[in-house]
Amino acid sequence: MVRRLVKISHQLKVSTMDVLQLLFLLLVSCVAASAYPPQQPPPCRVVQMDAFCSDLSLRSAPLNLPDVVQMLDLSRNQVQNLTRETLAHHTNLRHLNLHSNKIHFIEPRLFEGMNDLKILDLSKNHLNVFAHSKTNIGPLKAVESLDLSSNGLYTGMSDYFLSDSPRLVNLSLNSNSITEVAKDTFSGSLSLRKISLHNNIILKIEDGAFDILSHLTELDLSKNSIRCIDDFNLDKLKVFNLSQNSLESFQSAQSDTPYELVTFDLSQNKMLFFPHLPKNNCLKYLDLSKNQIQNIKFMGNITFNCLRYLDMSYNQLKKMPEEYFSMMGSLEVLNVSNNCITSFSITDGGLLQRVKIINLSYNPLQSLTFGENTVQSLEELFLQGNDLTTLDYQIFQRLPNIKYLHLQQNNLQVCDSEPTDQNHKDPQSCVSFLSVPKLEALYLSENNLRSLPANMFANTPLKVLDLSLNPGLDMHKDSLSGLEHSLVHLSMRKNNISILKADLSLLRSLKYVDLSTNQLTTLPTWSKESSIESLNLQNNHLVTLEYSTILALKRSLKTLYMGSNPLSCCGNLRFITMVQQSAVVIPDIETVTCVHEDYSEPVSIKMVTQTMCHGPPVQNYIITVIVLLLLVMIVFVLWVKCCHSRRRKHNRGFRA
Ligand SMILES: *[C@@H]1O[C@H](CO)[C@@H](O)[C@H](O)[C@H]1NC(C)=O
Ligand SMILES: *[C@@H]1O[C@H](CO)[C@@H](O)[C@H](O)[C@H]1NC(C)=O
Ligand SMILES: *[C@@H]1O[C@H](CO)[C@@H](O)[C@H](O)[C@H]1NC(C)=O
Ligand SMILES: *[C@@H]1O[C@H](CO)[C@@H](O)[C@H](O)[C@H]1NC(C)=O
Ligand SMILES: *[C@@H]1O[C@H](CO)[C@@H](O)[C@H](O)[C@H]1NC(C)=O
Ligand SMILES: *[C@@H]1O[C@H](CO)[C@@H](O)[C@H](O)[C@H]1NC(C)=O
Ligand SMILES: *[C@@H]1O[C@H](CO)[C@@H](O)[C@H](O)[C@H]1NC(C)=O
Repeated sequence: MVRRLVKISHQLKVSTMDVLQLLFLLLVSCVAASAYPPQQPPPCRVVQMDAFCSDLSLRSAPLNLPDVVQMLDLSRNQVQNLTRETLAHHTNLRHLNLHSNKIHFIEPRLFEGMNDLKILDLSKNHLNVFAHSKTNIGPLKAVESLDLSSNGLYTGMSDYFLSDSPRLVNLSLNSNSITEVAKDTFSGSLSLRKISLHNNIILKIEDGAFDILSHLTELDLSKNSIRCIDDFNLDKLKVFNLSQNSLESFQSAQSDTPYELVTFDLSQNKMLFFPHLPKNNCLKYLDLSKNQIQNIKFMGNITFNCLRYLDMSYNQLKKMPEEYFSMMGSLEVLNVSNNCITSFSITDGGLLQRVKIINLSYNPLQSLTFGENTVQSLEELFLQGNDLTTLDYQIFQRLPNIKYLHLQQNNLQVCDSEPTDQNHKDPQSCVSFLSVPKLEALYLSENNLRSLPANMFANTPLKVLDLSLNPGLDMHKDSLSGLEHSLVHLSMRKNNISILKADLSLLRSLKYVDLSTNQLTTLPTWSKESSIESLNLQNNHLVTLEYSTILALKRSLKTLYMGSNPLSCCGNLRFITMVQQSAVVIPDIETVTCVHEDYSEPVSIKMVTQTMCHGPPVQNYIITVIVLLLLVMIVFVLWVKCCHSRRRKHNRGFRA
């Protein structure tokens, strides 16, 4: 390039055309030089014995890497042809990462001499092209973990990689196009412990394909097209994932052999019945959610004494008879949400003694019973989206450990503070939240709640209370008393209330309050400084905010939502000044407007100024003159009266 420029400068037989040409050439060569920097490999980052060379557009490993490198990361480059040269003749590697390249050819027996290579990641390449040539990559003597995911491999192609891999423990074939697992697929890799075949199109598994793997403990067949499993006999398997297949039935082999299965995921299939699980099992985690199971019947009197977690949500269960729980003495989590259960009852104290979470949400549940001394460990109960109108009014008092109670979207009413037989002829018509010793969060939104009596939460240490979406809720002014030191979150959104009767400043721990979408015209006067940090008053009918309220809030308030209220501009100058001085954050400030008589449209509160609210000077002058005239007249009248009475006194004195 330099030589070319020199030549050009010789030619400078100064004509303007030549000068222009020269400038043009200079420009072109500059652009060219910046687009193609000198061919020096960009440096990899080398840390001790690890070389990080990802994302460098490399076609092979740089030649200048130190010999001692044991980990080579060449992921996300442009390697196409994997040979000894590509790896710069490094043979001491322990870990080689070639994820996301364009490899379509591997030099046969390339890995044979790599006696230390334990981890080989070939995921996201084009190894289907290589396998198509029916070439074998040769022995993988030391490799323990091999990732062949996302390579477009189809049935039989894995054979060219696995035929001689005696130490292989972990194998991933995820996201390929395998339709069948043949009997001898893994016959060259008998040490396998974990196989992932997630996201293929497996329809068929030949008998014995996995049986020969005596160390296999983890098998992931999720997201395939398997329709049925007839004779499950992998008794050493600990984790089995069959989620997202098309299974209609699952049968275990008839045997008394103890199975080691701990985690079994059968979610998102088409099961019509409870699976036929091994008789001698110690299963801990069973996910049957999103199937079509209509009733729970364990074929062959199987027990699940180790079962801790059972998810049967999104099925078509109509009943959940309590006797089935006698086979699940260790159950801690039960999810039967989104089924067709109308009634749920536990009366025997021996059942579900360890259960902590019960999720019965989104059922057409009409009746719920917990007898004396049942479910004593229960901490979370999800009952939202049911048809509950009546409950035994003391039902929650019997749950000594209940912390979270989700009752939204039902039809419940709250009892007066002291239900007695007199004022509650029918105690079933309401439910009490008095003295529930550990209850922290109560969700009662969308219940058509009509009233909240005084002291309804006495002796219940609530932190979170959601009363929103109960239009027309009539709240006693003392309904929240008892919560002075505990309540932190309060939501009363969309309750169609025009007056807030409770004095929220008495709730010393209250930090988050949502009063949006109501009909509030004013905020109550608060007796103390409040500790509220976030207050939502959006979409109400507020015209003025009392200065005393602002003062009560000012110390703690950090965030205020105020949009969609018919505020008066001049009636709220102190508040507006506070906003303009950024004392609080108003996330919806763009929608906060106020009404001013001189403007036909609402004015953004950011635009309001003091002078907008002082009338024009001429008017002031006239008022001053009128006031002065009035004063003069009053003084004159008083003076006249005064003189008159003195003269009368004189007259009297004269007479006397
Ligand atoms: C890969 O490289 C080897 C050795 O350089 C060469 O013989 C072979 O033809 C190349 N293969 C492909 C598919 O490019
Ligand atoms: C195999 O997978 C398991 C579980 O993911 C992991 O703990 C283990 O380290 C892996 N072994 C190798 C050699 O990669
Ligand atoms: C089973 O596989 C699915 C899909 O990959 C995954 O979402 C789920 O978490 C797995 N289940 C278990 C128990 O690991
Ligand atoms: C299950 O056990 C009961 C008695 O506990 C017995 O009557 C019934 O026949 C058994 N069912 C099966 C399928 O073994
Ligand atoms: C069922 O409930 C359990 C425990 O609460 C939860 O972890 C799981 O995600 C729920 N299942 C579904 C499908 O939502
Ligand atoms: C209860 O079930 C519902 C619906 O399946 C789910 O959204 C919710 O997360 C579950 N609760 C818990 C704590 O998992
Ligand atoms: C809301 O309250 C107003 C009167 O304050 C009433 O006219 C209206 O019907 C109520 N709306 C609902 C949904 O209860």
